[in-house]
Amino acid sequence: MHDDIEVQDNQLMIGGVPATKLADEYGTNLQVYDVSKIRDQIRAFKRVFEKNNLEYAVSYASKAFACIAMYQVLKQEDAHADIVSGGELYTAIKAGFPMDHVSFHGNNKSRAELEMAVDHHVGMIILDNFYEIQLLNEVLEAKDATADVMLRVSPAVSAHTHEFIQTGQQDSKFGFDILTGQADEALQQVLNSERMNLKGVHSHIGSQIFETSGFKIETEKLVRLMKHWQDEFDYTPEIVNVGGGFGIKYTDDDHPIRPEDFVQQIITTMQEETEKLGVKTPAVWIEPGRSISGPAGVSLYRAGSSKTIPNIRKYVAVDGGMGDNIRPALYGAKYDAVVANDVVDDETELVTLAGKYCESGDILIKDIELPKIKPGDVIAILATGAYGYSMASNYNRNPRPAVIFVEDGKSQVAIKRETFADLVHLDQNLDI
Ligand code: LLP
Repeated sequence: MHDDIEVQDNQLMIGGVPATKLADEYGTNLQVYDVSKIRDQIRAFKRVFEKNNLEYAVSYASKAFACIAMYQVLKQEDAHADIVSGGELYTAIKAGFPMDHVSFHGNNKSRAELEMAVDHHVGMIILDNFYEIQLLNEVLEAKDATADVMLRVSPAVSAHTHEFIQTGQQDSKFGFDILTGQADEALQQVLNSERMNLKGVHSHIGSQIFETSGFKIETEKLVRLMKHWQDEFDYTPEIVNVGGGFGIKYTDDDHPIRPEDFVQQIITTMQEETEKLGVKTPAVWIEPGRSISGPAGVSLYRAGSSKTIPNIRKYVAVDGGMGDNIRPALYGAKYDAVVANDVVDDETELVTLAGKYCESGDILIKDIELPKIKPGDVIAILATGAYGYSMASNYNRNPRPAVIFVEDGKSQVAIKRETFADLVHLDQNLDI
């Protein structure tokens, strides 16, 4: 892991700035993004498609991390964005993100959210269920509007990942099942609608996936579905969106291939299968979240108290925890860390990095060998850019950290630190 970080004078650098300088300037706990890493990954994805001469979209999954600054970067990189709520849509609107590059996902979009999407001319609405087909039709009728849509299908692929983040298996809350004919029924309903233009088909098999086999099976199934629709319903999807889910390296135990290599495999399968079955090769869209924002993020904390239980364990507590990164507690997720002000030291010890929340499960990293930590040292947990801040909470009434974007030696606040006043700003005094 330490090969992936930039170190100068034994100090961790982020985007050309010493992490300790960021900690001093903006305080801790702090979420920092190296913006060039975000850009590089988007560009790497694009290059694969361009090399293969394929129509495509790289649609960033906002749920991994979104804020106005993030949408501004995505816009500069001419990426698309996938959103799953009115809140993400609102943020994209506020950032001036082009609405024709937005895809709207979700298994229970409300009427108000669909209205908002139609009013703002969101580029693609991904239909997830029969109720939604009807609801969107009603919204479009009422507004005398039309919308480009895709059908999300559940391809019955079990990706090898944590069961909470598997999404493509048959028993899933997402999408139309292809095994029981639901996808065909949905197709007919949408083709019969005068208000919806069906652009293609979508599926997503899960997240933090390391094996290419799941994507291969998914792609094969999607091409077979295309062929079936072409033969039975005289409809050929223009776009196939294969979702996201490309796994990233969190610790030295992780050995994923590069995210863009997953995409090459998908493209190769797509080209082989479409040729074999006599279907026109569609535009291929991807929806990566974690692989774009994950490796770009670093969480900075200051060490505080520690507790040694002889022969058992040494705990070192930091000024954050499950409120800014729920993943270890929720999924047993593993991370790597360095002491930002003393990256390499001959003298190390085995410690457990604990959060400050009132819960025993609030452990950020169990058993990690680190240089001896003193109170005030800056601890950097690496690769926290996806599903960290975006899943943050105010548990224990702790304010959420600031988010800083760093690029070319320059840092900027992307999201301000919450204040105690922010924590009570929605609270009302009772009339008692
Ligand atoms: N597209 C769809 C339809 C999705 O549901 C997701 C993730 C993505 C794309 C992006 O997947 P990614 O490339 O980021 O793996 N909170 C969990 C991850 C949940 C993922 C949900 N869907 C975690 O912290 O691991």
